[in-house]
Amino acid sequence: MNIEFKLVAHGSEEWKSAVRLREEILRKPLGSYFTPEELEEEKDHIQVIGLLDNELVATSVLVPENHSMKMQRVVVKEEIRSSGIGSEMMLFCEEIALEHGKSHIFCHARDTAVNFYLKNNYLIEGAYFPEDGIPHVKMSKVIA
Ligand SMILES: CC(C)(COP(=O)(O)OP(=O)(O)OC[C@H]1O[C@@H](n2cnc3c(N)ncnc32)[C@H](O)[C@@H]1OP(=O)(O)O)[C@@H](O)C(=O)NCCC(=O)NCCS
Repeated sequence: MNIEFKLVAHGSEEWKSAVRLREEILRKPLGSYFTPEELEEEKDHIQVIGLLDNELVATSVLVPENHSMKMQRVVVKEEIRSSGIGSEMMLFCEEIALEHGKSHIFCHARDTAVNFYLKNNYLIEGAYFPEDGIPHVKMSKVIA
């Protein structure tokens, strides 16, 4: 499998494709969309995409916060899940966080994704809380 991860510019065609993929997976099932305000805020964020034979199959967004990097909007295309692409994307995100001088990486994990993050050595921090109407929990990993 020839998966390549890279960073893309906010507003680029690849970013627009990534927004469509994550909107399909994360928002449409909830009956919502990324608002223009949310997408505008992403100007300050780091955009990650994964290409499998030039097809965009994975994406995530990194948000620098003090000594940490927050990872959000993590998705892999449904048809090719459970083949390790999500875990490879975690490693790529951790590399980018290190390059930005961060010592921690964290996310707000959906309850359905907790096992995925545990498998990638993230630890649960604190109690579950609702976000977008779904139970989430903070999960983090020391990277430096
Ligand atoms: C979470 C997600 C990115 C993992 O991607 P992936 O390419 O399947 O990840 P990997 O192949 O590296 O790891 C798969 C592991 O994730 C977990 N997993 C399996 N199905 C899952 C699902 N529907 N949702 C979350 N985690 C799942 C399992 O532990 C699985 O291990 P297994 O294959 O040994 O059973 C992908 O399932 C996804 O896009 N889910 C929907 C969006 C989502 O929930 N994103 C996270 C928001 S916090």
